[in-house]
Amino acid sequence: MDKTVARRLIALARPYLSKVIVALLCGLLASAVMAAIAWLVKPALDIIFMDKKYQYLKLLPFAVILLFATKGFLHFCQQYLIQSAGLSLIRDTQSKLHNHILYMPVEYFDKETSGILISRVVNDVTLIDKVISDVIRATVVEMPKIFILLGIAFYRKWDLTLVSLLLVPALGISARKLGRKVKQKVAAAQKNMSLLTHKLSESITGIRVIKVFNREPYRNERFIESSLGVYKDNTKAIKYKELNKLVVDLMTGLAIGSVLFYGGMKVVSAEITPGDFASILTAIYLVFSPVKIVAESYTTLQSVRAAIERIDHVLETPVEDKGKVEIKQFNDCISLEGVTFRYNPDAPPVLEDINLTIKKGEVLAIIGPSGTGKSTLVNLLPRFYVPSAGSIKIDGIDLMELDIQSLRGMIATVSQDIVLFNDTIRENIAFGNAQCSLEQVKWAADMAYATEFIERLPDGFDTVVGERGLTLSGGQRQRIAIARALLKDPPILILDEATSSLDNASEAIVQKALDGLMLDRSRSLQSLGRSRSLQSLGRTTIIIAHRLSTIKNADRVIAIENGKARTVTTPSDPLLSTCP
Ligand SMILES: Nc1ncnc2c1ncn2[C@@H]1O[C@H](COP(=O)(O)OP(=O)(O)OP(=O)(O)O)[C@@H](O)[C@H]1O
Ligand SMILES: [Mg+2]
Repeated sequence: MDKTVARRLIALARPYLSKVIVALLCGLLASAVMAAIAWLVKPALDIIFMDKKYQYLKLLPFAVILLFATKGFLHFCQQYLIQSAGLSLIRDTQSKLHNHILYMPVEYFDKETSGILISRVVNDVTLIDKVISDVIRATVVEMPKIFILLGIAFYRKWDLTLVSLLLVPALGISARKLGRKVKQKVAAAQKNMSLLTHKLSESITGIRVIKVFNREPYRNERFIESSLGVYKDNTKAIKYKELNKLVVDLMTGLAIGSVLFYGGMKVVSAEITPGDFASILTAIYLVFSPVKIVAESYTTLQSVRAAIERIDHVLETPVEDKGKVEIKQFNDCISLEGVTFRYNPDAPPVLEDINLTIKKGEVLAIIGPSGTGKSTLVNLLPRFYVPSAGSIKIDGIDLMELDIQSLRGMIATVSQDIVLFNDTIRENIAFGNAQCSLEQVKWAADMAYATEFIERLPDGFDTVVGERGLTLSGGQRQRIAIARALLKDPPILILDEATSSLDNASEAIVQKALDGLMLDRSRSLQSLGRSRSLQSLGRTTIIIAHRLSTIKNADRVIAIENGKARTVTTPSDPLLSTCP
């Protein structure tokens, strides 16, 4: 085992070391009690029956019960402690992974599928508790047994012992080879397991599409492919693991055979006593049981390594750069200076040399054909992505320097695809502002023209919206998202087609509420007793829209076309005329 792996394993087990040590001690004591039971049988029977001290007979059951109870209790403690240490390792690693994932850059999630990340947290992690339950136990409890037994055998007759151990290097080589194969197969099985998880989650989220296109058999075939992959790789891993045990058994046979033959000859020629012979034979026979456990733990270690490598791969992914400069208020302007952005270093830029200043309190509308980069542009503001060239500044400070939490604290977005959590409507609206009262939640719902439909729901504001808010209509989801953004009451509001799923009448009303809030933030939470400084007056708003009605109150309209931004001045602009 190389040093880095050993160090990694020790680091993994360190937080649970006290539990592990007590568990190992219990294990050792339990073995001692077992030995005591075996050892006591002879003197107990001799004393009672041979020496005819029958008065001890009635004590015998109690002694046996006591010894078994002690052994059982110690075994219980060992198992409980070692397994709870393993489970703690799983729990802690899972929360560490989840926390790390939350802070990884948005970019990462474009490349890695959710199924793969889920599989890391759910499947890979469950393998690693074997580090504690198998690997450490084998190293601490079984390894010493090997040395003690071999020590006894060497002490009795070193040359005879050596003969029996001639094959040990072969054992080492085969364990290493098989171990490597186990690692490969387990890694492949884990990869297929990620695909399986991914396909399952896609089938569940895409169930309606699958049904309407009658593609159930096709999806199932794809699922079976991955499932078969997991099965094949795992059975191969099991085959190599069991082969490793078979090799140990063969070695045991060969070693005992050679001791019998070579030792037997020495007994015949009276070079050693039958006692020595029997003692070495017993030691060699006994040593192979711990050898088997250690060899098995070696292959287990290889499968655990495959899991640890994958987990570490996620944990080593850099998290977002936090930034240092805290910003408390937005005072002046957002400026984009020569901003170029490409999603992929080899791809053509989506945005090219954009220069744009958005003043505080301004309502800026962005229009442009589909796929032209409007959403991309606004996604740069909360630093979901970093410009490939140029810079974005808020009040003259580069976004890269700004403390990311304070930056995001100033922005609320209602994006094209609404994400709601499987929680109550109240919790969803209050998502960005956990301390707010029901009254404030109701105010936000009112502003987003959502109160009416919410109150018609069976549990009103306490209705649970289902996964991704699926129990609501598209327009209702949008209104909840608008309420959520308004309740955050941010100085910068980004509306990316925020009202696109609403009918004309609802849109007009929501738009009116939004217009009011865009123009004058003082109307907002202040009326509910939340104090705000002067910056509350005038919310900077960026609206992406296709409808003319949505942008008619904008101070300025810009169009994004072929990566460039240009100001739209006349209502007869061809891009505007496409907006009904
Ligand atoms: N995460 C991503 N990774 C790679 N390319 C992307 C990603 N998101 C968007 N793109 C590409 O960038 C371009 C601009 O996309 P964007 O979503 O900004 O368009 P949009 O103007 O908002 O369009 P729409 O009006 O349809 O919403 C598109 O060609 C799209 O394929
Ligand atoms: Mg878009």
